[in-house]
Amino acid sequence: MVQWKIPLFDSDFGQEEIDAVTKVLQSRWLTMGELTHQFETQFCNYINVKHAFAVSNGTTALHLANVVLEIGAGDEVIVPSFTFIASVNSIIYTGATPIFADVASENDLTISPQDIERKISNKTKAILVVHYGGYPCQMEAIMSLARKHNLLVIEDVAHAPGAELNGTSCGSFGDCGCFSFFSNKNLSTGEGGMLVTNRDDLSARIKLLRSHGMTSLTFDRYKGHSYSYDVVDLGYNYRPTEIGSALGIVQLNKLAMKNKRRKELVEYYQTKLADLDGISIPFINHPGISTYHIFPILLNPEIDRNRFMEFLKQNGIQTSIHYPPAHRFTYHKKYLQPKHSLPVTEDIARREVTLPLYPDLKFEEIDYIAEVIKNFAAR
Ligand SMILES: Cc1ncc(COP(=O)(O)O)c(C=O)c1O
Repeated sequence: MVQWKIPLFDSDFGQEEIDAVTKVLQSRWLTMGELTHQFETQFCNYINVKHAFAVSNGTTALHLANVVLEIGAGDEVIVPSFTFIASVNSIIYTGATPIFADVASENDLTISPQDIERKISNKTKAILVVHYGGYPCQMEAIMSLARKHNLLVIEDVAHAPGAELNGTSCGSFGDCGCFSFFSNKNLSTGEGGMLVTNRDDLSARIKLLRSHGMTSLTFDRYKGHSYSYDVVDLGYNYRPTEIGSALGIVQLNKLAMKNKRRKELVEYYQTKLADLDGISIPFINHPGISTYHIFPILLNPEIDRNRFMEFLKQNGIQTSIHYPPAHRFTYHKKYLQPKHSLPVTEDIARREVTLPLYPDLKFEEIDYIAEVIKNFAAR
C-alpha cells in the first residue's frame, strides 16, 4: 500500500463521535429508532425542508426518489454523464432510460440547462441534476424548464449538504433531494444517506418503501404499538442504523464549521495555483454558496494526465478523477443516443484531476502540492 504524504481525503472523527457510537452500543438498540428520528428532524431544519428520511446510503436515496416519483419503463430522465455512476444507475434500476446531458462550460462543470432543453422529448419525465463538487447547478433555469415542460426534478446533493443558491438550500429546489454520507463526504457516517422533500404527498410512501412496504416497524412493535403488520406495497430494506444516525447528529453539528474550513482551503489553493502553467481552475466566481466537496483542476490539453498523476504520486500526493464520464463505461455506452453529443464533457473528462481536500488539510500542505505541480511544469 502506498504511504501518502497527503491523501485525497481524510476523515476527522473525534471523541464526540466515539462517545455517540458508544452510547448507541450501550443502549442496545442499533437499528432505525429515536436517534434516526432526531437526525431527520435536525436535517430538515438545516436544509429548511419539510420532510427528511434517513436511508442506508445515497444510492438508495436516489433509487427511492425515482420510485416514489413513479419513474419507470418507457420514461426518459435527463442526467449529466459527468457524475458518479450511482446518479445514472438509480434511473436504470426503475426501467427508465437515462438521457445524458452535457455540462455547462469549462468553468461551470454542472449540467447545462441549454443542453437539457435540447434533450427533452415526449418521453422525458424528469431531470436529475448533480450539484457537482458542492457547487449549485443553475437551478433557476432548470426549474423554469421543468415548469415549462411539466417535468419532475431530482437533485443529487451527495456533494452539497449546506450549499445554497439565492437563499435556497440545494436539495430543496426540486421534488426530491438525495444526500450521501459515505466516508469521503462532507458529512460522513461511513455509509448513509438522506432523502428530503417538500411534497407532503410523497412522504408516507417514502417511509413505507424504506422498510419493505410494511405498515409497522420493529421499533413500533418494541414500543408496544402493534403486534403485527401488513405489506401494502413492494418496498426495500433501505433503513439506516442508529450508529449512523448518532454519527450523523454529531457531524451535522460540525458541518457549517467544516464547510467554512473547506472554503478557506479552496481559496488558498486558488491563490497558490493561479499563475501556474498548464492548469486552470473551474468554478471561479460560481454563484451561490458551495460546500467545496472536492477540488477539481483542469490540465491543459497538451499535458499527459497519467504522467501528471504519477508525478504527484511519486511525491506522496494522492489524486483522483471526478469523473470518468458515464456514457463511456462498457455497460452504459448503449444509453448514449447516436444523435446526442457531449462535447464539453468529452473535453473536460479527459483533463480533470482532483487534488486533496479535507478540513484537516494544512495550508503548508497546499504550498507543497503547488510546489510539486510547479516542478512538474518545469521539467
Ligand atoms: C454524485 C454522487 N451521487 C451519488 C453517490 C452515491 O452515494 P453512496 O455512495 O452513499 O451510495 C455519490 C457518492 O459516492 C456521489 O458522489
